[in-house]
Amino acid sequence: MPDLLVPLYRLPAERPRDDGIAIRRAIAPEMHVVCDFAERHFSRNWASECAVAFAAQPPGVLVAVEEGQLLGFACYDATAKGFFGPTGVAEEARGRGVGVGLLMAALHAMRQAGYAYAVIGGAGPVDFYKRQCGAIEIPGSDPGIYGGMLR
Ligand SMILES: CC(C)(COP(=O)(O)OP(=O)(O)OC[C@H]1O[C@@H](n2cnc3c(N)ncnc32)[C@H](O)[C@@H]1OP(=O)(O)O)[C@@H](O)C(=O)NCCC(=O)NCCS
Repeated sequence: MPDLLVPLYRLPAERPRDDGIAIRRAIAPEMHVVCDFAERHFSRNWASECAVAFAAQPPGVLVAVEEGQLLGFACYDATAKGFFGPTGVAEEARGRGVGVGLLMAALHAMRQAGYAYAVIGGAGPVDFYKRQCGAIEIPGSDPGIYGGMLR
């Protein structure tokens, strides 16, 4: 899976939502909720990355919440500075624009933090990123920083 590069200086504006789903930055007391969600739905490796992203102030973690329930999350600056990810949406909540909402909120937060580009490390759904945020593949990036990782 290659890494992707995303220019942050020409991001489209975030679209306001009127569907009852709040996408916002997480706060520290929510760390165990997000880490448990990441482990339950995805992997312990992702839970570890979430914990690191929570250690920043403010946390590099965005969450999508509906009626008090966590639908998904997105992190940045977890495994490497300037990296977006991991991100994930609960299977039952997919296809409602939550993934793209989290992506855009996190990329805007990275831009605000001073980055000109974001790297999507070991991107799974490459077409999703190409279409949603103009990502391009970084030549020679597979395997990248995750090569040989312990699981
Ligand atoms: C990728 C993921 C976050 C997308 O979340 P989602 O909430 O279902 O996505 P959205 O509803 O916001 O989709 C927005 C658009 O992207 C498209 N899309 C969604 N997943 C896609 C995929 N895997 N590949 C290509 N396009 C995709 C949707 O069809 C939709 O298109 P539309 O605007 O024409 O309707 C989610 O499928 C997921 O959690 N996957 C497993 C974890 C994962 O792979 N994370 C990324 C690691 S790098």
